[in-house]
Amino acid sequence: MEDEIRILIPEEEVNKKISEVAAQISEDYADRQVHLICVLKGGVFFTCELAKRITVPVSLDFMSVSSYGAGTESSGVVRIVKDLDEPLLDKDVLIVEDIIDSGRTLSYLIDILQTRGPRSIRLCTLLDKPERRVKKQVKVDYTCFSIPDEFVVGYGLDYDQKYRNLPYIGVVEF
Ligand code: IMP
Ligand code: MG
Repeated sequence: MEDEIRILIPEEEVNKKISEVAAQISEDYADRQVHLICVLKGGVFFTCELAKRITVPVSLDFMSVSSYGAGTESSGVVRIVKDLDEPLLDKDVLIVEDIIDSGRTLSYLIDILQTRGPRSIRLCTLLDKPERRVKKQVKVDYTCFSIPDEFVVGYGLDYDQKYRNLPYIGVVEF
């Protein structure tokens, strides 16, 4: 069955904003190397587009945690599905997420990564749904777009593993 998808943020607008955020990151990390941690799978498109536009040295690692099942509601249960390959000791870590919703995933992730001795940890997200935040202590350093409480897909975000490849951010009309 085909779902109806309404464009919320067109591709050009997403790319333009990513360029701006990448410029800010390049400025903030001047003379340093930034260690990007891509949160799979949703963060992968954003991580690539962001990394391409950052002008300071970049290293990359990937992690997969699960907090969502096949539906659209957070289960509150978060577990590591794939851990990082590299240690974080003395690195300037920038976690790259697709979306921050309740904040449960990030809150859990930051607690774990903090124990591994990074020099710094910052957080960068493509989308933020501030109205939905449960974990209020999660501080986001770089946000491309704050959006209303709607279920979105595209640019890495899925609905039941579909639509990650859409080049724009869309809303599924249930
Ligand atoms: P949180 O733990 O509630 O902040 O959930 C974060 C994760 O839930 C994200 O990394 C996404 O994988 C997923 N998620 C939250 N909202 C959406 C949405 O609107 N569309 C697709 N995935 C979402
Ligand atoms: Mg995610």
